[in-house]
Amino acid sequence: MGLSIVILAAGQGTRMRSRWPKVLHRVAGRTLLEHVYQTASSLQHDSLIIIYGHGGSQVPEALAHVDAEWIEQTEQLGTGHAVAQALPRIDDNDDVLLLNGDVPLVCAGTLERLTAAARDSGFALLTAILDDPGGYGRIVRDGSGKVVRIVEEKDASMDERAIREINTGMMVVRGALLKRWIEALDKGNRQGEYYLTDIVAMAVREHVNIECIQPHSLNEIMGINDRVQLARVENTYRQMQAEQLMQDGVTLVDPARFDLRGTLKAGMDTVIDVNVIIEGEVSLGDDVRIGANCVLRDVAVGDNAEIQPNCVIEHATIGRQCRIGPFARIRPDTVLADGVHIGNFVEVKKSEIGPGSKVNHLSYIGDTEIGRGVNVGAGTITCNYDGASKHKTIIEDDVFIGSDTQLVAPVRVAAGATIGAGTTVTRDVEAGTLAIGRAEQRTVKGWKRPKKGG
Ligand code: UD1
Ligand code: CA
Repeated sequence: MGLSIVILAAGQGTRMRSRWPKVLHRVAGRTLLEHVYQTASSLQHDSLIIIYGHGGSQVPEALAHVDAEWIEQTEQLGTGHAVAQALPRIDDNDDVLLLNGDVPLVCAGTLERLTAAARDSGFALLTAILDDPGGYGRIVRDGSGKVVRIVEEKDASMDERAIREINTGMMVVRGALLKRWIEALDKGNRQGEYYLTDIVAMAVREHVNIECIQPHSLNEIMGINDRVQLARVENTYRQMQAEQLMQDGVTLVDPARFDLRGTLKAGMDTVIDVNVIIEGEVSLGDDVRIGANCVLRDVAVGDNAEIQPNCVIEHATIGRQCRIGPFARIRPDTVLADGVHIGNFVEVKKSEIGPGSKVNHLSYIGDTEIGRGVNVGAGTITCNYDGASKHKTIIEDDVFIGSDTQLVAPVRVAAGATIGAGTTVTRDVEAGTLAIGRAEQRTVKGWKRPKKGG
């Protein structure tokens, strides 16, 4: 007896008022469907089927990397009709876990309990009790407390609408039962759809016992039907991630103003100030400080490094004890060794900078290799682009570059050389020499400055 998982993701999501299929909207940078898929695929299973439909191939294309069987529901005739598309692939003896692609925060542990609950009778339902059950299907029970059926809100009477126990949409049903019931569904309801939820009444008629279990947290069952709910889930998820990070030893100055859109590994006593956005895969060492308003995407930062406010760092490696910013931009394929200082209004692209070297003010360093102990003066520009191709600049150890220097690549400045301020370096500079290329200063004595108004 195996487990088949079916994720329903074919609906349009009319209430989103979007050109995109609903399941491609994102929470914490990942599509709703990806959240559900990742949780589902972490369970022991034999097959995982995703039902797609609205938006055509957009959905499978957006999730091309996942290991799932895609089945198209060409017309969206309801959740029961969506499940019907998967039936030919389902073994009678398998248990089938049904999930909605628009309920992203469910936990693997809850789904494991749900699967276990279905083992004997072949039917388990995940329900929840909400203060505000609006929008969900309601669980109707009889006088003795036994489940009788599920009624959709649109079909519910006033009394039924007052029921606070709701259908989360998640259930486990034995293959043979599911096939029999799905084939017997009809569209006799307000929305003219095949409702998956109607199988509950069928199970009751056949005296199949329905096990109901509840999730540990109500966050797990939050469904997304419109953009208000999308923002609510984003908020909840942000809080969940922030709490986990704080439990793991990271200080978040304000967890409500911290966004993680990807994965973050952080050492101990790292402090993250407000309005920081972390995207992709980021790792921070011990005692790292990230200032306010920084964006870090796919970055590794070493121990004791300090990123001051308003920096944007992308696809880069930052060594230990580095000091970056404020207002620095580090672009892809940059590697900063330990103890590098990058100051305000400095842009570094595709460059390696050696230990202890400093680029402190107003510079552009691109396609460059800088050795150790180098000082790059304010306003230095590597002229790496000739209008057709990019060229490399190499600056060896212990070089001193005066302010307002242009280095016209390809060019090499050998170890220990000095470049005078204001020089345009067009030829290689030998080790230990001074290169200076500025027009000589003239003095005009008794110079009268022009005066306004004559
Ligand atoms: C559904 C349940 C409701 C439950 C709620 C929980 C039904 C009839 N109702 O309502 O009891 O409280 O979920 O969140 O099942 N889908 C398809 N094909 C279709 C229609 C829908 O794949 O033809 C997919 C949607 O993409 C979505 C999921 O099924 O991922 C649920 O559909 P949705 O229309 O959002 O149902 P709800 O009205 O939320
Ligand atoms: Ca829904």
